[in-house]
Amino acid sequence: MSSKDDPKLQARRSFLTRAAGVAAAAAGSVISPAHAHAPAVGEGVAHGRHPENDIESFWGSHQAGIATPQQRNVYFAAFDLTTSERADVIELMRSWTSAAARLTVGAPALPINPDPEAPPDDSGEAQGLAAHRLTITFGFGSGLFVKDGVDRFGLNQWRPEAFIDLPRFPGDQLVAQRTGGDLCVQACADDPQVAFHAVRQLARLGSKVAQIRWAQAGFLSIDKHQPSPRNLMGFKDGTMNVPTANAVQMSQHVWVGEEGGWMKDGSYLVARPIRIALEHWDRMKLAFQEQVVGRHKLSGAPLGKTREADPIDLDAVDGDGNPVIPENSHVRLAAPASNEGAQILRRGYSYDNGLSFIAERWPPWHQGMEFDAGLLFMCYQNDPRTGFVKIFEKLSRFDMMNQFVTPVGGGMFACPRGAAGGEYVGQHLLEHA
Ligand code: HEM
Repeated sequence: MSSKDDPKLQARRSFLTRAAGVAAAAAGSVISPAHAHAPAVGEGVAHGRHPENDIESFWGSHQAGIATPQQRNVYFAAFDLTTSERADVIELMRSWTSAAARLTVGAPALPINPDPEAPPDDSGEAQGLAAHRLTITFGFGSGLFVKDGVDRFGLNQWRPEAFIDLPRFPGDQLVAQRTGGDLCVQACADDPQVAFHAVRQLARLGSKVAQIRWAQAGFLSIDKHQPSPRNLMGFKDGTMNVPTANAVQMSQHVWVGEEGGWMKDGSYLVARPIRIALEHWDRMKLAFQEQVVGRHKLSGAPLGKTREADPIDLDAVDGDGNPVIPENSHVRLAAPASNEGAQILRRGYSYDNGLSFIAERWPPWHQGMEFDAGLLFMCYQNDPRTGFVKIFEKLSRFDMMNQFVTPVGGGMFACPRGAAGGEYVGQHLLEHA
């Protein structure tokens, strides 16, 4: 067999070609913001895409995809590192940074390889599509620091105190195949194929050193008549959130400060697919559904109020002296006032994975196919101990919503600051001596 026919050698050759591109990127020119925003002729517009439209800047002190107004679709993926060499992780993050900078302006992940004998470097399903506000956000899982008791990359000394392992919460039914990961990629776009395409290219680029572990696609419907998206329970979701345009509140709750060292200007992501028992929920009376959430379903207003934006009054009582917003309602238990001021930036998406077989252990002992659907809950914060963990310790014990929702996977990821001026994402951690 000639080397031309040997798929292993071909794969290797193509990896080396890519590695050479990556090395050039590392040298500064390819991943500098100026160049990444200007793909070569033939890679953007002439490739059939419209990079001038709907572009969210990839470069900046914060990674895009955190404070960026939510796009309609997400493709979230977690990866396991299959190497124990820090140099490989550095090369991976360099190539991913370079590719992300290109993808987010509507260009293919790599410069076009004109060799018709080689597999195309970009799979091509985003050709002809606009950038659709694609953002690509990278995060590091705890496995980058210690995995199975081993500090593979010599990085554990730099693990920030805030980057704890998530405790096991009551009600968690985490499936190993949907949990954890050494790295994560959150690709958000106003088009599902653009988001999927981005992760697919990154998975392919990194395949020598990073194996995809779990992934979840999600969607969110918004239009001018419905600016607040509704989740699959039919309620408006995202009404009370950290205002992303308010720099003071973002610093207070979302962006890591000086104390974080290499994590300064980054943020911690908690991403957990939470299954919702939709058939069960749909059997509940409207009034009960509203008591569970603590808001009116149609308007999104807090119980006892009329408009979505009306403030929640946790002290309000009805004629019998009972709280208008029930003690165990979701919004009361999640509110900052119930959690010593804790706030998180929620950025969740609904998901639909088709159907799965359910056998209930309690009356009416239903057996059969049910929707495998729910919420890919995602939130960003500058300290998970005083953010997600603080709030969810209470919710996981007392929330009336728990009878309908089950966390089935996920993890926590440290999303470092954004890249600027020829840097790659994660450089401040990975190049620590
Ligand atoms: C399937 C799971 C969940 C569903 C369906 C859900 C749904 C909702 C809805 C409908 C609201 C009211 C509208 C709003 O203010 O956005 C809300 C508020 C909220 N949720 Fe969730 N949620 C879920 C899981 C969680 C989890 C895991 C947390 C985190 C720890 C959380 C934290 C919050 C917070 C902080 C608020 C705002 C409370 C306030 O300040 O009024 N939620 N959620």
